[in-house]
Amino acid sequence: MTRAPIVVAYLDPSDPEPWRRALSRRLPALDFRVWPDLGDPGEVRYAMAFRPAEKAFDKLTGLRAILALGAGVEAILGREDVPVEIPVVKLADEELIREMTDFVLMNVLRHHRDAPAYARLQAAKIWRRLPYTPPSARRVGVLGLGNLGAASARALAMHRFDVAGWSRTKKTIPSVAAFAGLAELDAFLARTDILVGLLPITEDTRGLLDAARLAKLPVGASIINAGRGGVIVEADLIAALASGAISHASLDVFETEPLPADHPFWDMENVTITPHSASVTDPDSASAFIVAAIEADQAGRPLPNVAARGRGY
Ligand code: NDP
Ligand code: OXD
Repeated sequence: MTRAPIVVAYLDPSDPEPWRRALSRRLPALDFRVWPDLGDPGEVRYAMAFRPAEKAFDKLTGLRAILALGAGVEAILGREDVPVEIPVVKLADEELIREMTDFVLMNVLRHHRDAPAYARLQAAKIWRRLPYTPPSARRVGVLGLGNLGAASARALAMHRFDVAGWSRTKKTIPSVAAFAGLAELDAFLARTDILVGLLPITEDTRGLLDAARLAKLPVGASIINAGRGGVIVEADLIAALASGAISHASLDVFETEPLPADHPFWDMENVTITPHSASVTDPDSASAFIVAAIEADQAGRPLPNVAARGRGY
């Protein structure tokens, strides 16, 4: 029996070919079309994008869902030409989650074991041992306990860190102290030596970490941000780093990306920069999640990990 083709449109400016190959292997009935050559746009059932091309949603009258190529969907939810009734599926690929967990673990361990301070000592040719703190005495706080934050918090707890997490709604994760909502944010920050940012950017999270909130962290705390740059007020972070109130920041995401060549972060010795590379979507593994979502929808089952428009993530 021949199955009716499932028309999937690739609406992103990035290279579609790895996706075409990966999806075709898993979905034999795939009819993969690349914007702007969509043929009859009314035949498109699923759209894939991270930052969709302008006007890409025009005339997609038969669209059933948008399958995001990343976990952050602000560029899709922020578009006025996406009909509100079309569900947007956030990527929750196992490999994406593992890669982020590795990134968080690597950076928390770097901060915990004073890697930036040892690099400065090496540059000055100084042989000096810094005091050792066991992980159980290091308080790590994870902002955002979604697919990525929860996995990171679990991994940090397994490493014996003293872990807490903050989210909108309270979570129960073994060995992770739970904080939720703005009412508990200050208390969460006050008990955090190493802060890990894994929040989406929304109306509520933009500028969340301003000078007043950064000042709630213990003096000398450090920050790792891999969520979205706009969650931290960059000018306030620069001031806190310059004064030493924040000892170090490892930043993977920024208000403007690529980070402009004249941005102060580049020249700060207590800032480590990575180019939004903490966890990069891999079409081979992510296609398993995307095909499972399409198959669920085709079988009349609910789509997984759908973004809530009202909340912006
Ligand atoms: P999820 O949508 O699964 O989780 C988001 C988390 O943030 C939830 O715990 C949610 O709370 C919490 N949250 C959202 N708004 C608020 C708020 N106002 N107050 C308190 N908590 C809030 O996202 P993921 O974990 O999959 O991804 C997180 C982010 O990581 C993405 O949105 C993206 O921006 C970024 N990212 C970065 C990458 C990189 O390479 N640097 C790669 C992939 C993603 P609740 O649980 O209560 O809903
Ligand atoms: C994502 C990202 O959201 O790459 O997946 O930042």
